[in-house]
Amino acid sequence: MQENVIAHTFNVTRAQRSAMKNQQPLLLWFTGLSGSGKSTIANALEKALFEKGIHTYSLDGDNVRLGLNSNLSFSAEDRTENIRRIAEVSNLMIDAGLVVIASFVSPYKKDRAAVKEIVGDFRFVEVFVNTSVEECEKRDVKGLYKKARAGEIKNFTGINAPYEAPVNTDIEIDTLETSVEAAVDIIIHKIEHKIAHQ
Ligand code: ADX
Repeated sequence: MQENVIAHTFNVTRAQRSAMKNQQPLLLWFTGLSGSGKSTIANALEKALFEKGIHTYSLDGDNVRLGLNSNLSFSAEDRTENIRRIAEVSNLMIDAGLVVIASFVSPYKKDRAAVKEIVGDFRFVEVFVNTSVEECEKRDVKGLYKKARAGEIKNFTGINAPYEAPVNTDIEIDTLETSVEAAVDIIIHKIEHKIAHQ
């Protein structure tokens, strides 16, 4: 489909955009079950980075699925397309020089690997928010686990759809052991050298 499409080169470069912001771009990819605490940690992290003068942008499953990806379901194919689009959007934001914080269930290993492939190894940091199904179900902030158990939601991750937990992930947060503040500190410590402007 792209055979007659030729990429255009623009005068202002990615390096210049990043230099103007005095930072290096990065994609922080939060993965974990629904209700695991991804968005809570991502939100606190963005605030902490913002206070340090870092230019950020947050992408979140619930929000993106109300707009850009409102035509996608929770079938395996649509989740793959959901993640692919987010990866491409994140890549544009990286090109703009931003630190992007993306929070998506992203249950399939191959989809997360594809994100890394799109944005590049060094610009991708995976954060596994590790909260068990039992704990997420106990918290059930949005009442979705209850609905899934009642058979009102099909393909619900952790109940009747799979979650492939990351194995050698970059950062793992066990939310039963780590507070939101501590998680933010761990993440900032890990990414500081990657976002500092050289
Ligand atoms: S993903 O699997 O494609 O990465 P995404 O992060 O965009 O999922 O959306 C997950 C959010 O949608 C959950 O936090 C939850 O609020 C809601 N949701 C609704 N239905 C489902 C479902 N079947 N499985 C998982 N999450 C669902």
